[in-house]
Formats: sequence, C-alpha cells, structure tokens
Amino acid sequence: MFEVAQRLLAEAGQPEVLRFWPQLSDAERRALVVSLEQQEPAELRAHCEAAVRPRPAGQAPLPGLMEPLPEDVVGGVCRTDAETLRRWRDRGFQEIAKGHVAVLLLAGGQGTRLDVPYPKGMYDVGLPSGKTLYQVQAERIRKVKQLAEKRLGGKCTLPWYIMTSEFTLEPTRNFFAQHQYFSLPQSDVVMFEQRMLPAVGFDGKIILEGKGRIAMAPDGNGGLYRALTDYKILKDMDQRGVRFVHVYCVDNILVKMADPTFIGFCVERDADCGAKVVGKAYPTEPVGVVCRVNGTYQVVEYSEVSQETVERRNADSQLTFNAGNICNHFFTVEFLKSVTEEYEPKLKLHVARKKIPYVDEEGNYVKPEKPNGIKMEKFVFDVFQFSKNFAVFEVLREDEFSPLKNAESTGGKDMPSTARRALLWQHYRWAVQAGAHFLDDKNNRVPVLSQLQETEDPPVVCEISPLISYEGEGLEERMKDREFQSPLLLMD
Ligand code: UTP
Repeated sequence: MFEVAQRLLAEAGQPEVLRFWPQLSDAERRALVVSLEQQEPAELRAHCEAAVRPRPAGQAPLPGLMEPLPEDVVGGVCRTDAETLRRWRDRGFQEIAKGHVAVLLLAGGQGTRLDVPYPKGMYDVGLPSGKTLYQVQAERIRKVKQLAEKRLGGKCTLPWYIMTSEFTLEPTRNFFAQHQYFSLPQSDVVMFEQRMLPAVGFDGKIILEGKGRIAMAPDGNGGLYRALTDYKILKDMDQRGVRFVHVYCVDNILVKMADPTFIGFCVERDADCGAKVVGKAYPTEPVGVVCRVNGTYQVVEYSEVSQETVERRNADSQLTFNAGNICNHFFTVEFLKSVTEEYEPKLKLHVARKKIPYVDEEGNYVKPEKPNGIKMEKFVFDVFQFSKNFAVFEVLREDEFSPLKNAESTGGKDMPSTARRALLWQHYRWAVQAGAHFLDDKNNRVPVLSQLQETEDPPVVCEISPLISYEGEGLEERMKDREFQSPLLLMD
C-alpha cells in the first residue's frame, strides 16, 4: 500500500503527503490510498503548479478591451412595455406546461463565509414561517408549475436538478427525505455531485486536513459541466423532453424559479445562453459585470477593472458597465451539450485564496484566521464566451436579488437579516399593491412606506407563502380592501 502511494505522490511531486504515514491506522491508510488513486499524478502535479503560478497581482488588464453590452442583446422589465412582458411570460408558461423547462440549482458550495456546519439551502433566515431556502425554492417550483398547468390545462413536470458536492450531498438528501421532498414528486428531484480538487498551500504543497486526509474543495460552480457529464444529466433531460434550463444559486432568497418571463424572453430570441442582471447599487459594488471583451461575452470581476472603467458613464449618466451578474442563467440543453462535449476543457481555473483548516507539522488541527491556501475553481458563467446567440435580461434588484453570503456577526451586507428583510419588503409591497391595509396595535392604519435604506425594516411584518403567490399575482381576492394585523403570515 505504501509503495503505491509513494509512487503516485513522487510522480505528482507531493511526497510530503505521506509524512504522517507511520501514525495512521490501517483504515486511514487505505482511505488515503483510495483518495490518491482517484487522482491522475500528472494532473495533480499540473494542478498544484498552476495554483501557485505567479499572476500579475491587482492589475486591471481589461479596460481597453471591455465593451458594454450591445443594446440589441438586452431586454428587461423596466425597458419593456407591459404587453411584450405579458407575451414573454405567456411563452414561458407554455414551455413549462409542455415540460420543456427544468431548473438547476448550484448547491455544492461550502458556504465558508456563512460559517454553518450544514448546506446553505438548509438555512432559516428567520422568516415568521421558519422556512429554509430549500423550502422556499421548492414551493416556488410547485407554484409556477401549478400556474402553468392552470393556464394551459393538463399536468406537467418541472424537474429540479440539484448539484451538490461531497459536503452537501448527504445532508441535502436527508433533509429532502425528512421533509417528504416538500411535496414535490421525488422522481422530479435529481441530485448529483460535482468533483473535488485538492487545496494547495502557498508553497505549492497539498494541504492535509487530517494526518491521512487531503483537504479537498469542490471545483467551483463551473464544475457543473463536468458533473453533467459524470451523471449523464443531459441524457436524463433529453429523456424527459427538457429543452431549456434555468440555472441559479442556492443563496438568493428572491430567486424566481423557472421565471416564465425570463424563459419566454430567451426562447423568443432563440438565445442559447442568457443571463439575468441587475443594475449595480453603486459603481464600486463588488459584483461581476456582464459585458463583452474582445468581442465575446464574459463576466468581468470588479477586481479586474480599473477605477476609471468602473466609474465610466454614458451620456444619460448611467454606468457604462452596469449589468451586475446575479447567477441566474438560461441555457438550452443543446448549448449545454456543446459545452460538455467540446468547450469544458477550455474553461479557466480561477484561483481563490481561502482559509483552509490543516494539520501542522506536529499533527495538530488548526483553523486559520486568514487565508493560508488556494482553491481552484471554475465558474458557471465562463461559458458565455461560447454562446452563439447570447441574451441579457435586466430585472429589479429589490424583486429578484438578495444573496445570503455572510454570517450575521460580520455586520455587513448579504447576511441573514438582509435576506429576510428583502423578502419581507417584497411581500409587503405585494400586499399593498393588492389593496391590503395594515393596522397597528391600537387598530390604526399604518401609513404605507417605501424602503429607503437597506438596514430599514418594513413598517409591518407580512410573509406570503410561495404556494399562494409566485410573483405577487392573485392576492387581490384575499387582500383587497381588507385590514390585517402585523405580523401577517399568509399561508395556503
Ligand atoms: P459562492 O461563490 O458564494 O460560494 O457560491 P459558497 O461556497 O456558497 O460560499 P463561500 O464563498 O464559501 O462563502 C455561489 C453559488 O455557487 C455554488 C454555491 O452553492 C452557491 O449557490 N457553488 C459554489 C457550487 O455549487 N459549487 C462550488 O464549488 C462553489
């Protein structure tokens, strides 16, 4: 056993991985050898070398090559008349009703910033209902499916593919089983697992998280494309008749699953690949921007752009590079096939400096305070460059984007409280729009307010189950001219 491991690691240039070998039990030795045998030594060597290859730090390489999105690829809720929006929505519903649509959740991340020992989708941000992100998403799928069925008659399926990783698969599977798949048909929930890559120290050496265990990390949300191949997911989609896929991230509490308007917009334009975007909150907001670089579509990270480019404005004073990526993508199954069959190996590996728990030379387990190593990741949006007909759909941030990234203790942005607030404001707006009135504890009507600051709570607490309303529709019959006490929890 030792010889096998030694040979593999010598070829990979990583003999130090065996430094605790004499202290390992037989079982630990076997597990280590099994994990090593899954790695191709030459690939492992290349991976570790690539991780520490010097990169021009803090440079802004792109400004001259960056071009804003051409007007004709962009559509959006604010720049489109009501009739066209309705047409797109109808088209999206038709595609859902025909069973042509699937949703695909990227849920393989470790959620290190949120810092909870379970998958982010299981997080409860403190809504009055106590619903987790997974539950909210499951209910939105049920509702949009029901709306499609009602409009077009007959039953349809709307499969939910969930990409997990070694960290999230088991707990996610158990959680869904415990909750009876949130009343979705179990056969329509398909979980699969992305691959893992070893984490590498700044010295180019593989990090051990235990004396006999290599620290592994999922290969980024762009690991999706290899995982689609590994688990024959596109074949499964073909068998179900799926033609269009809505891909999204687990942490956006406002995500509109299988959004019919977005789907209809992309399908009508015959797009093979599409991205939802929101206007940037402020010029230096650290979000990736969808734009063109050297003629191809890309997401350019804030850190790759000079201050001058970030601040650039058009004649109408709008930011020139304003299309903030919110990880909400449309793909045709045909496009995904071309990516998995042809383009995947061309995807760039991005370097992320992270805090990676490790064992020190004495074998003590250490949780570092600052980044001590590198994880290599592929990004889901890096396939935009291969699109033959790209489309961008601009939506309103307050309606569609509030990600849960950080622990509450950071006191910053994108935390449980900001996600909860974003959802409660949205439901308050829906209720007011539907003609509801809210009463305070003295039975006086509470004046209607708009949100002025991110940190501000809505004047009343109102949560509406996704099973009642998907995007604010259908509330008048329950709420118009009626008075409600806060907190209001409108459940079906
Ligand atoms: P983030 O980049 O925010 O990463 O993922 P994260 O793992 O959730 O959080 P941190 O950075 O460790 O704090 C954006 C989306 O991509 C998914 C995440 O689950 C989330 O939905 N993702 C990320 C994957 O599916 N796989 C990965 O390897 C990384």
